[in-house]
Amino acid sequence: MTDLRPSGGWHGYRDVAELVAGATERLVLDEVPGKSGAGLERLVIDGQRYVLKHLDLAQDWTMRASGCLPGAPLVLWQRGILARLPDCFNQPIVAAVPENRAGTGQARGPAGGCALLMRDVAPWLVPVTDEPIPAGQHARFLDHMAALHAEFWQCGPEFDVVPGMHRYLELSLWTAEAEAALGSAHVVPQLVAKGWPLLAEVAPAAAVVVTPLARDPGPLLEALDGTPHTFVHSNWKLDNLGTDDAGRTVLLDWEQPGRGAPLSDLAWYLAINCRRLPQSKEAAIGAYQDALSSRGIDTEPWWERQLSLCLLGALVQFGWEKALGGYDEELMWWEEKAVRAAPLLG
Ligand SMILES: Nc1ncnc2c1ncn2[C@@H]1O[C@H](COP(=O)(O)OP(=O)(O)O)[C@@H](O)[C@H]1O
Ligand SMILES: [Mg+2]
Repeated sequence: MTDLRPSGGWHGYRDVAELVAGATERLVLDEVPGKSGAGLERLVIDGQRYVLKHLDLAQDWTMRASGCLPGAPLVLWQRGILARLPDCFNQPIVAAVPENRAGTGQARGPAGGCALLMRDVAPWLVPVTDEPIPAGQHARFLDHMAALHAEFWQCGPEFDVVPGMHRYLELSLWTAEAEAALGSAHVVPQLVAKGWPLLAEVAPAAAVVVTPLARDPGPLLEALDGTPHTFVHSNWKLDNLGTDDAGRTVLLDWEQPGRGAPLSDLAWYLAINCRRLPQSKEAAIGAYQDALSSRGIDTEPWWERQLSLCLLGALVQFGWEKALGGYDEELMWWEEKAVRAAPLLG
């Protein structure tokens, strides 16, 4: 495959020691919103601020759940995919190296992982509050999501990094059980374990459709087969997003990417950011569809089928979380979508 990596001085680096050799400051970051267990440091190299993220298989449950044991961002880096993102993105990773702590005495659990050196994009990130984001920023996120999808429309197997099946199992009882067996103290897998059994009480009509799929997403993936796929980032959560001074979208946290249904990215965005979106879900879906069409993608005849299935899929990912929140308008909306999509399953 052609090497499309960006030019620059970082490519000869083989390990973390080499990456940080020129650092004049190094500070471990504790107060960041990530939930994965990844360790972050802030560095200064040549007077520029960087963030070093350690994806350590022994510490990071999202990495284990992805099934991509070297670390998905390392694979993207090595394949040159990050360098091919459309210009509307500010992707901060400047280098990625394998990191294996086996034999160092630091590994408790499976050994392996990678480290990512990123430009520090903190000033541009969406602030961590409960406030709705500005309408213009939200509109731009949808537009740039469509740009990403249009760029890699019907992409080939080199974009297979994390399979769709794993994305639908990331927040399932399988993950919760695997993490419990490892003695992992991470909060999210414990909430997943607590939330799924509640769904049957809180939203029984949704649970009938969604709970079996959270155990075996096979029927959902089969039903999506035959609708278009592209390269999906799969974690368009506001904590992973920002807007730089040039209006580009900052996109962090490339840990579950791969080939998948474009509308799965949109459905995740609507589900995980629901309390902070300045627009109705219907209007947001319409805005994304317009953005995709404006980039030359024909949204017929597959749109309605894929949309229905991906909205159901979002509840396969977040049923536990919506159940913990109790039955409200939000859960009612998703329940209605899940029930409506059920006949599309084989
Ligand atoms: N390159 C970066 N520049 C500035 N802040 C960053 C950078 N990368 C991560 N962070 C901060 O750390 C948080 C967690 O990092 P992220 O890669 O999203 O990890 P997690 O997988 O734990 O969510 C982000 O939400 C952001 O606040
Ligand atoms: Mg994150």
